[in-house]
Amino acid sequence: MNVLFVCLGNICRSPMAEAMFTKMVADEGLADLIKIDSAGTSDEEEGNPPHPGTRKILAKYNLPAANLVSRPLNNHDYLSADYIICMDDMNLADVKRRAPVNTTANINAIFDMTPAKKGQAIPDPWYTHRFQDTYNSLAEALPSWLTYFKQQLEN
Ligand code: 4NP
Repeated sequence: MNVLFVCLGNICRSPMAEAMFTKMVADEGLADLIKIDSAGTSDEEEGNPPHPGTRKILAKYNLPAANLVSRPLNNHDYLSADYIICMDDMNLADVKRRAPVNTTANINAIFDMTPAKKGQAIPDPWYTHRFQDTYNSLAEALPSWLTYFKQQLEN
């Protein structure tokens, strides 16, 4: 199963999600079954490492940042990803609007598996500088995705 987290720049939210979810999946012994990546709807930050605010959070929680390099979403992602998970409404609208007709990926919002928070977004910390809030929101959203994927793998 291939999971792709998407935000705007791929330097703040989606690389944080990638690092956190990679650790969660590895801790469950599922690293061979669930592959995780991230991308941005914009190519503005292409080639750049995560934002210092995201790097600080990853260091705080002992999550590796070394492999995280910003890249833009591409047409192949719509075929190779089983799930594209977007951080806010603009990301979701952009990802859906650009979807090729032969798209096979499921396109979702970050809180789709968290009933109490469904419809909420993870705001862009590039503007708010509230990177701990981003981590806390992802820490709420990601376990429900892991539960869902484990159910999918069992079926
Ligand atoms: P992200 O944050 O989408 O969470 O990675 C942003 C990073 C860069 C820009 C916007 C948002 N930017 O405009 O360059």
